[in-house]
Amino acid sequence: MTDIKALFHSLTRQEKIGQLLQLAPFLFVRDLAVEVAGYVRHLNLSEQKIFQSGSVLGIGSAEEMIEVQTKYLAKSKKKIPLIFMADIIHGYKTVFPVPIGLASSFDPSLAFETARVSAVEAATSGIHVTFSPMADLVRDPRWGRIVESFGEDPLLIAKMAEAMVKGYQHDGIEKEGNLASCVKHFAAYGAAEAGRDYNAADVSRLSLHQFYLPGYKAALEAGARMVMTSFNTIDGVPATTNQYLLRDILRTLWGFEVVTISDYDSLQQTIAHGHSEDQRQAALHGITAGLDIEMASTTYTSHLSELIDAGEVDERLVDEAVLRILELKRDLGLFENPFKGADPVKAKEIVLSKPHLDKALEAAREAIVLLKNDGVLPLSKTQTVAIVGPYADERNMIGPWHWHGRRDFHSTLKEVFADQAVFVKKAFRYDEFNEAEIQQLHTADVVLFALGEHEWQSGEAHSRSDIRIPFDQHTLLKLLGDKQKSVVVLFNGRPLDLTNIQSADAIVEAWFPGSMAAEAIHEILLGVTNPSGKLPISFPKTLGQVPLYYNHQKTGRPYLGKDDRNEYVSKYLDIDNDPAYCFGHGLSYSKFVYGDVLISTESIRPDEVLSFSFDVQNASAVPGKETSLVFLKDHHGRVVRPVLELKAFRKENYRAHETKTLSFQLSAKDFGYVLEDGSFVVEPGLFTVYAGADVAHLQGKTFRLLP
Ligand code: NOJ
Repeated sequence: MTDIKALFHSLTRQEKIGQLLQLAPFLFVRDLAVEVAGYVRHLNLSEQKIFQSGSVLGIGSAEEMIEVQTKYLAKSKKKIPLIFMADIIHGYKTVFPVPIGLASSFDPSLAFETARVSAVEAATSGIHVTFSPMADLVRDPRWGRIVESFGEDPLLIAKMAEAMVKGYQHDGIEKEGNLASCVKHFAAYGAAEAGRDYNAADVSRLSLHQFYLPGYKAALEAGARMVMTSFNTIDGVPATTNQYLLRDILRTLWGFEVVTISDYDSLQQTIAHGHSEDQRQAALHGITAGLDIEMASTTYTSHLSELIDAGEVDERLVDEAVLRILELKRDLGLFENPFKGADPVKAKEIVLSKPHLDKALEAAREAIVLLKNDGVLPLSKTQTVAIVGPYADERNMIGPWHWHGRRDFHSTLKEVFADQAVFVKKAFRYDEFNEAEIQQLHTADVVLFALGEHEWQSGEAHSRSDIRIPFDQHTLLKLLGDKQKSVVVLFNGRPLDLTNIQSADAIVEAWFPGSMAAEAIHEILLGVTNPSGKLPISFPKTLGQVPLYYNHQKTGRPYLGKDDRNEYVSKYLDIDNDPAYCFGHGLSYSKFVYGDVLISTESIRPDEVLSFSFDVQNASAVPGKETSLVFLKDHHGRVVRPVLELKAFRKENYRAHETKTLSFQLSAKDFGYVLEDGSFVVEPGLFTVYAGADVAHLQGKTFRLLP
């Protein structure tokens, strides 16, 4: 095994600083004289700097990785292999549901398995680190990156993030077929003001610790080897140069000595933020704050050495960062094999293989959420259908931000419904149909409206100020004949205002289901698969209610519903406070009935465990899966506690008419909470434990936590 310390001591200062730089792959293979003087002139690069850099962002294939690493090692003096990092977010070529869809499965073990497949596919292409999971908590549907998130709940985010990390890193990052995981975007990127990407995140320390940080922490506790900073400011300081985040919380409070990396160009952007005066100061701020790798900009390679000479930067800060990076390279096994993983032959065999596509189908089935069903679903095989809308005959249902997903490869809805479809038209609006077409459409028993956002309407830099279904697609519902039933299937990356399609008999939230989208939707609509997805985020009735999330703080003047005669309460004049579809909402073709919550005792000491149970009955002849949610309400606290907090969830299979008794335990770690300084307190007082299908359908029992 390479002696990291000896290697480290053999490095010149410039070689050390080089390890802190991450560049794009083309710089290592193209004509440098052209590149350095051309497109990337502003980076102030030289051949020497390029061949001293430490890592690469993005790589296309095993062949490309081998070429880049070979050229690098040939020219670099100390021959320290590059690490190859890339965004494997919801699949490499086999594409799984977008993360908000995966979260709808409420199934961390499934998330683990999808991460395994992603790791195996990506690793054969020579990728060593994935910039995933994204553990950003979100509350504003305008923000485009909801599609990459696990929603609004800290526990669900934590469980999914943990499972993804374990899936990527599996039995060790030194092994072939595994990736190191970089959790992002630290921190509170999802709180971008007004849902506008890159905007400031003005969250209180209390909110930061209670809501925004647990997801990242869970990923780190699961072993994530890197942390990426976010683009936003926190307390007026860019996250990329934020000592409170990168030193006080990450290293001191939590104790993680992991490698930190900026987001794309985000160290340079501290100048535009108005935090750094120039590149020199950006470098000073970055290294002082605890930022190790600078992605895509070059303030470190341009200025760190002179900052050290000027006595403004302690060289030990650079040394610590370099050592962390060299250790990661060692742990990845790169010194033994710089080409680790890259295997063009194996890549052809396993990428998009049958077992991988089967896993994609399984994940898509679990991700789809049945929002509304007035009895039209499931369809019978004998019913004829018309399919209209932009997704009626569209191969691309994989959504944004997959690494190399194929948009032209997968089945369309028209193809999977070939036996039943009497009319199909890809269209956006009612006025695109002529009389003859409408007549033909009217011959179908059911009209499937395959509607939604385009994949480019969510994702990075794709915030929207209008969260209704775009391009007037709702006008398509006017096509419906008097005797026809309607089913809307939605493709989207964020909660939408669905007011103008509420007349539909059924609404199915498909998100972007991935490689096997069409097959999974077909199974669900026909009842071959019973839907079991639940919403990981609230759907507002209208944008005016935003931010709308279930675990909000209590107000001194709560609104008690429409019978509340008190005018001076926390409400709107024109709409109630409830979401259109709440956190946890998701229908099934089975009917699940919840029994009372039974608790072991009505008062417990903090060192005791509260045991409780409840029955869940499948009161139907249809076998199905149900995720049961357990919440806690802490009635009083030195700081106001949220109205409800998710504490546990369990997804179970139920045979026809089967009843299961689900048992849970809660202890001090569940009763306590984090204060604004990150300290954990357990306070005596009244609590209620609730169980049910979603936040609007709960039953509970109250108990007292004794001092
Ligand atoms: C910018 C994005 O914010 C981040 O999520 C991603 O990992 C980097 N670019 C690298 O592609």
